[in-house]
Amino acid sequence: MPKNAATAAARLSTAPMMDWTDRHCRYLHRRLSRHVLLYTEMVTAPALVRGNALHLLDFSVEEHPVALQLGGSDPAELALAARMGAEAGYAEINLNCGCPSDRVQSGRFGAILMTEPALVAECCAAMIAAQPVEVTVKCRIGVDDQNPEEVLPEFLARIIAAGVQRVQIHARKAWLDGLSPKENRDIPPLDYDLVQRMKMLFPNLHISINGGITSLDQAVSLLDQGLDGVMVGRAAYHQPADILCAADRRIYGATGPDTTAEGAVRDMLPYIESHLASGGRLHQITRHMLGLFSGKPGARAWRRHLSEGATRPGAGPELVERALAEVTDLTESASIL
Ligand SMILES: Cc1cc2nc3c(=O)[nH]c(=O)nc-3n(C[C@H](O)[C@H](O)[C@H](O)COP(=O)(O)O)c2cc1C
Repeated sequence: MPKNAATAAARLSTAPMMDWTDRHCRYLHRRLSRHVLLYTEMVTAPALVRGNALHLLDFSVEEHPVALQLGGSDPAELALAARMGAEAGYAEINLNCGCPSDRVQSGRFGAILMTEPALVAECCAAMIAAQPVEVTVKCRIGVDDQNPEEVLPEFLARIIAAGVQRVQIHARKAWLDGLSPKENRDIPPLDYDLVQRMKMLFPNLHISINGGITSLDQAVSLLDQGLDGVMVGRAAYHQPADILCAADRRIYGATGPDTTAEGAVRDMLPYIESHLASGGRLHQITRHMLGLFSGKPGARAWRRHLSEGATRPGAGPELVERALAEVTDLTESASIL
């Protein structure tokens, strides 16, 4: 991986999402876009360093460029975990300062770190000194009763002084007291203007905006307004084709035809076969493919086929091929009508 591969790719990225952006999901997303930057689920530094859970770092080179997201708040432990990530071949090491779940709060990971900018700076400096891969930070605009106008610039100035040159800002607060993690992704209001102002205040900082982006048009328009990158989470998971099929052309200026959901399904078949041959289950891959035809005529049949059939013992790639044939038939009859 060239050193700046992740920065070049960061004009569009898929967000880190626990239980969702595992390696199978990322492999699928890579079939839809050659260039988008893909993030792992959060891996905690204690799991790597104390638990020796090295399997959490497994990924295939075909997923590149991939960024590893780490959770933690101990500088020495994060430094070791970052080095493990670099040795595993990740293109970027990202520190989670945005995730509000209880478990994460009790370990002083994630969004609670918005209240400790000096500690975050120390963590970043340690991670940067420990290994050669770029270190970035994913954060919120603040938590609880913090005033984002004050705390966000201070937070960013601190991590910039520690050597961070690229961030992803989820443009809403996390309310750690009283809201569930899910509610914390929808209820606190989005403030894109504040993120835009941070770009004016820190013009050399590469800023990706995140939160509530639901279409590729919206991503393009945010880039046109001067932000450096756009990170898409739920929409990229639930409607991957809508967000990713035209991304290489529209975001990265690539020539050649856009990718298609059908093409991605065909590309997944050999991957599925080798996963099954190594003892894996079909649904571990197909659960990430359910939204591929979202909004298209065969979407419901596709989803039903996969969700009903893929957990059955012995289910294999032929189930996916049958489901695809049905979607293609429905799409063709819809275009004749
Ligand atoms: C199922 C799920 C799991 C998530 N896990 C993480 C995580 O591990 N680390 C993180 O920084 N954010 C996590 N997030 C938050 C997303 O990265 C993103 O910031 C959030 O969903 C807002 O973006 P969106 O509106 O485009 O989805 C998660 C979100 C979802 C839906």
